[in-house]
Amino acid sequence: MDVTTTSPKADAGHPGPSPQEMRRAMGTFASGVTIVTGLDDGEPVGFACQSFASVSLEPPLVLFCADHRGRTWPRIRESGRFTVSVLAERQDEVCARFGSGTGRKFDGLTWHESPWGTPVIDGVLLRVHCAVHQVHVAGDHDVVIGRVLAIDVPDDDDRPMIFFRGRFGIGTDEPVPAPQLWGWGDHWG
Ligand SMILES: Cc1cc2nc3c(=O)[nH]c(=O)nc-3n(C[C@H](O)[C@H](O)[C@H](O)COP(=O)(O)O)c2cc1C
Repeated sequence: MDVTTTSPKADAGHPGPSPQEMRRAMGTFASGVTIVTGLDDGEPVGFACQSFASVSLEPPLVLFCADHRGRTWPRIRESGRFTVSVLAERQDEVCARFGSGTGRKFDGLTWHESPWGTPVIDGVLLRVHCAVHQVHVAGDHDVVIGRVLAIDVPDDDDRPMIFFRGRFGIGTDEPVPAPQLWGWGDHWG
């Protein structure tokens, strides 16, 4: 495995921004929102995830970054499979339930099992079904590389959910404040 790290000289003596400064600054990078889901011993688990990206076309690879303190990611890692679902604009209730450290995320939610052994939720713009391919520890997060097994584009022409500076939506529409269900311990928002 090729892993390139910077030389100690390159970052010596530069402590860099604080976690708060990082969080505020990186919130300027508008993104979509996804839900990463898996099945652990038959139980559906998942969490809201903004740090999703495409990595490689051949082989098809994607990535997301998972906080070491999360409860769901270790369970998904164990199962070896996950589905990334890209949320539509009006799915803020789904985002809130999966972005919260409290409550049972699948309670009252319609879902079914995909052919890949992962739970899938309705009303999303895209589903990317993956096998856990590589996990790189990077600071307080794991960078998870997924090998894409299949892509599922539901027949839905909805607009995407956008997350920007801790709020949903940008532009002329009044942005919707993101629900404050996740605390500072969650890093996100
Ligand atoms: C919009 C949004 C984006 C998020 N993105 C990430 C992310 O990329 N990685 C991550 O580890 N947590 C992210 N979170 C936080 C987790 O969803 C949250 O901590 C959740 O409670 C984790 O679930 P768990 O405690 O069951 O592991 C995000 C939360 C929200 C609301």
